[in-house]
Amino acid sequence: MTKFQKKLSQLKEQNRFRSLSLPAGLDLTSNDYLGMRSHPRLREVALAAIDSGIDFGAAGSRLLRGHCAEHQALEIFAADYFKCEKTLYFSSGFQANYALFTTLPDRHDVIIFDELVHASARDGIQASHAKSIKAKHNDLNAFEDAIQKARSDGAHNIWLAVESLYSMDGDVAPVSDFVNLAKEYDAYLILDEAHASGVLGEDGRGLGADYQHERLITLHTCGKAMGVAGGIVCGSEEIVSYMINAARGFIYSTAPPPLQALLVQKSLEILASSDGQKRRDHLADLCGYVQGELGGEGTHVVPILIGDDGRAVEVSEALKNKGYDIRAIRPPTVAEGTARLRLSLSSDLKLVDLEGFVDALGDIVQI
Ligand SMILES: Cc1ncc(COP(=O)(O)O)c(C=O)c1O
Repeated sequence: MTKFQKKLSQLKEQNRFRSLSLPAGLDLTSNDYLGMRSHPRLREVALAAIDSGIDFGAAGSRLLRGHCAEHQALEIFAADYFKCEKTLYFSSGFQANYALFTTLPDRHDVIIFDELVHASARDGIQASHAKSIKAKHNDLNAFEDAIQKARSDGAHNIWLAVESLYSMDGDVAPVSDFVNLAKEYDAYLILDEAHASGVLGEDGRGLGADYQHERLITLHTCGKAMGVAGGIVCGSEEIVSYMINAARGFIYSTAPPPLQALLVQKSLEILASSDGQKRRDHLADLCGYVQGELGGEGTHVVPILIGDDGRAVEVSEALKNKGYDIRAIRPPTVAEGTARLRLSLSSDLKLVDLEGFVDALGDIVQI
C-alpha cells in the first residue's frame, strides 16, 4: 500500500474522504449570493467583447505583456467603488490572500489572526517570515492582549487578520472595533471581505469601505457575490505599489484573462445599481425567514450543525435525494465535532424553495 492509499483509506474510515460531484438539485451550496454568475447583462457584455475580438488569455504576467486595458479599467473602477487609493486584481482570492501575508509582514513583525480565518490566510501566515499569534474568534480583548505582548517583545509592525463575515458560521466581525484597535496601536488590519463583498455595506461595498485608516487593507473575492472570479486587494498607493514589486504570486503568474476583469467590473457596476439593491433586499428577506426557522446570525451563510462527520454526510445525501444540493462540511475545514451543513442563501431563491427545504430538513433531523 502506498502512503497515499493508506491516507485515503484512513479518510474513508473517518468519513472524511472527499470527491468531486457535479451540481444536482436546488443550489443551497454555492457562494453565488446575488445570482450574478448567470446575470443576462454579463452574458451580453461577454458576447459583445468576444465579437469585438477580446483575447481569451492575457499570455503573460501583468508586469510583462499580460497587463491589459481591462485589468487597468477594473482596478480604477474598483478603487472608486471600494473607496481606497489603489487596488490590485489577482486571478483568485486565494492567490491574493496568500500574497498579502507572504509579501507584507517581515521577520521583525507579528501577525495576530482570528482562529477562524480562511485557509488562504492561514497558509500565507504560515509561509510568512513573521511570527504569528492565534486569537480567539472575534475577541477584541484577546487581540489587544496579543498586540501588547507583541509590542513588549519588540515587534516592528503588527498585522491583524480578520474577516468581515465568517464563511462557515455566518457571523460578522465587529469591524469598526477592529479598525479602532488597529488605529490605537498603529497596526495594519487585513480585512478579508470574501463573503461580504457585494452583499453587505452600502451598495455592497463590504464592511471596510467606510473606514479611513491608511493601514487598512481589504480583500474582495470576485467569485462569490460578484459571480465571476479573482481577488481584488484594496489599500494605499504605497501598499499596492509594494505588492506589484514584491508579491511573487502576482509577479510570477500569468494575468487573469481580460474578459474576466471586464466581467468583474460590469458585475460591480450592477451591484452598485438599483438591480443590485433589489437583489440584496430580496436576499435580506430570505435571510430573515431562515433565521426564524433555523436560527443563525441572520446572514446569507447559515450553519446547520450536525456534529458527527458520518451523520453530516448522511443528511446531505438524504437532502440530495429530495432535490436539495447542500454539502456536508467536515474537519479540517471546521473544528472536530462540529461537522455541519452550510446553507448558503442566494437572491435567486424563492421563499417557497426555502419553505420546502426547511420541511425536508425537518423530516431528516430535529430542528
Ligand atoms: C474567506 C475567504 N477568503 C478567501 C477565499 C479565496 O477566494 P477564491 O475562491 O477567490 O480563491 C475564500 C474562498 O473560499 C474565502 O472563503
